[in-house]
Amino acid sequence: MRALSEQEFRNRLDALCDIEDPEAIWRTPEEVEQLCRHHTHDGTGDRVTPSFLRADLRGRRVADLGSNIGYYSFLASIVMGAREVLAFDRSPRAIEVGSFFQARFGPENVSFHSANFLAPEFTQDFGRFDVAVLIDVMGDTCVREGRGPGLLAGVQQMVDEAILLVFRPVYKLKEHLKVSAEELQAVYPDGRIEDGRFHYLELLVRRGLLEGWSLDLLDPTFTDPLDTSTQKQLFRLRKV
Ligand SMILES: C[S@@+](CC[C@H](N)C(=O)[O-])C[C@H]1O[C@@H](n2cnc3c(N)ncnc32)[C@H](O)[C@@H]1O
Repeated sequence: MRALSEQEFRNRLDALCDIEDPEAIWRTPEEVEQLCRHHTHDGTGDRVTPSFLRADLRGRRVADLGSNIGYYSFLASIVMGAREVLAFDRSPRAIEVGSFFQARFGPENVSFHSANFLAPEFTQDFGRFDVAVLIDVMGDTCVREGRGPGLLAGVQQMVDEAILLVFRPVYKLKEHLKVSAEELQAVYPDGRIEDGRFHYLELLVRRGLLEGWSLDLLDPTFTDPLDTSTQKQLFRLRKV
């Protein structure tokens, strides 16, 4: 097939990104394009990015779960030397945009797949991974609705080495979760909710989700992995 001219590439990208659904294009396409085209992440990313860059992905088979258009997938391959990166998102348009960047710029070892990573057939279809990456996937809504512990348990079944996962150790009910204490307690009968704060990391520990896993923080500004910060941060769970 004939390669697209620069203008054709731009027109097609604009058309793909011209969509109302916020789940489809969540990450800025310009940042992903810079990374793919120039192989530099300077000026891109968010406050999780410097922490993510401290993870060791060299030579690893990585699953970017909830990849959106693939910012962290490309970072893992281009900048961090992952052996293979499979990007998964349930938004077909996000996957189309990620694939479009990959087809234009490479690298060959990144591939995009439209899939729900919590579906029962997922592991059978895609095999096991050394590392799973979940950036802003176990977000405030997921935690409010009580889906976080199940999501983590599911991901634990598919990796052999580590999970890189963003969450807040403690959530503020009003600011982050937008629920009353009574509503949240109904979702997490075993959760500690005090002074308008939900102790989420403590709940994950209490439910046994960290048994057989070590937990550390990749953000050097936080030092205690079992801290009670309400700041969103990147945790690394390693199989022990
Ligand atoms: C807030 S965005 C974060 C995107 C990406 N990790 C990043 O930081 O650029 C969350 C993404 O997770 C996807 N997602 C959430 N649950 C999913 C699931 N069970 N299977 C596949 N994708 C999922 C959504 O479609 C969305 O694109």
